[in-house]
Amino acid sequence: MAAGARPLLLLVLWTLAAPARPGPGETGDGGWQRRGPGAPAAVTEEQRCTVERRTDLSYAAFVQHYAFSRPVILQGLTDNSRFRALCSRQRLLASFGDSVVRLSTANTYSYQKVDLPFQDYVEHLLHPQDPASLGNDTLYFFGDNNFTEWASLFRHYSPPPFGLLGTTPAYSFGIAGAGSGVPFHWHGPGFSEVIYGRKVLYFPDRWWHATLNLDTSVFISTFLS
Ligand SMILES: *[C@@H]1O[C@H](CO)[C@@H](O)[C@H](O)[C@H]1NC(C)=O
Ligand SMILES: *[C@@H]1O[C@H](CO)[C@@H](O)[C@H](O)[C@H]1NC(C)=O
Repeated sequence: MAAGARPLLLLVLWTLAAPARPGPGETGDGGWQRRGPGAPAAVTEEQRCTVERRTDLSYAAFVQHYAFSRPVILQGLTDNSRFRALCSRQRLLASFGDSVVRLSTANTYSYQKVDLPFQDYVEHLLHPQDPASLGNDTLYFFGDNNFTEWASLFRHYSPPPFGLLGTTPAYSFGIAGAGSGVPFHWHGPGFSEVIYGRKVLYFPDRWWHATLNLDTSVFISTFLS
């Protein structure tokens, strides 16, 4: 992970709140929720999110009210339906099954790294986690992306259009099982978008937070640094 100053982020507390619209021939979860015997349910959502939600937020209002002070959930900001379609389980496995991905442990400073083919990760490691398991015992895929190899996917992603002066955006893309997440941590400012589920969250610089995936989740963060 770049510079060691950017610990993991998985901010996907709102996965269940707004299911994506199903595309033709595709279920709304992109095929990521495994069903049938032995497929545990998602983690139950708490309905007490206190982060403000805004639609039609102007850039000026974003800078004045949020950029340097508090988090916000941004709605209806970008249309990533094409990117979302490309992130279905079937499409990602067909395109990138053989690509080697780098997994990290979920503790704040992500000590351990493991490389393995994307298909092996999806088929063998992407299972629901016991929420009581420790971050350092959880291996998952977030960040350390090979943007050369996955360029055909990332060129379809539209990040939130709000930049911050003097920063450049950098993506971290990942997929993780229900019940996985990251213990309390902070890092620089940026956005987190749940691809299955439709929320974009902005997190200010050094804002303390923990994260929890309620379902198997596909997500992308745009760090501004
Ligand atoms: C994870 O952390 C716990 C508590 O600090 C420790 O007991 C355990 O051995 C660690 N696991 C690994 C795989 O390092
Ligand atoms: C990214 O993928 C390309 C093409 O497969 C490969 O040549 C390159 O070594 C990879 N880069 C890293 C940093 O793994």
